[in-house]
Amino acid sequence: VTIALTDIDHVGIAVEDLDAAVEEYRRLLGVEPVHRERVEDQGVEEVLFAVGSSYIQLLGALGPDTPVGRALASRGPGVHHVAYRVDDVASALDHLRAQGARLVDEAPRPGSRNTLIAFVHPKTMGGVLVELVEER
Ligand code: CO
Repeated sequence: VTIALTDIDHVGIAVEDLDAAVEEYRRLLGVEPVHRERVEDQGVEEVLFAVGSSYIQLLGALGPDTPVGRALASRGPGVHHVAYRVDDVASALDHLRAQGARLVDEAPRPGSRNTLIAFVHPKTMGGVLVELVEER
């Protein structure tokens, strides 16, 4: 059972106002959105900007009682999670479980862009919420 990170898939950034944040990223960083998607089961709407082979992911909450809504209420806007790309999320989870890591997701689940994802608890990762992403 192994884990092999192949890239930084994205950095997830919680924002209060998604449309306003998209305009700020356009104006300040000269980037254009390449993808926008509502992910109901995660309670978010996301916008992706491509940077090299990675993305910046802006996250707007679909309501206060969602993970991003709660993060905005407790910590305000800012970096929410770091996502690493892997070839096989299930195998990466098996590896982490064997290493005693605390997992948010015990099994891979569907993410945006038809990916498979799983979250690792920040308690295990030095205070950083980590996501694993497998492209299909
Ligand atoms: Co993410």
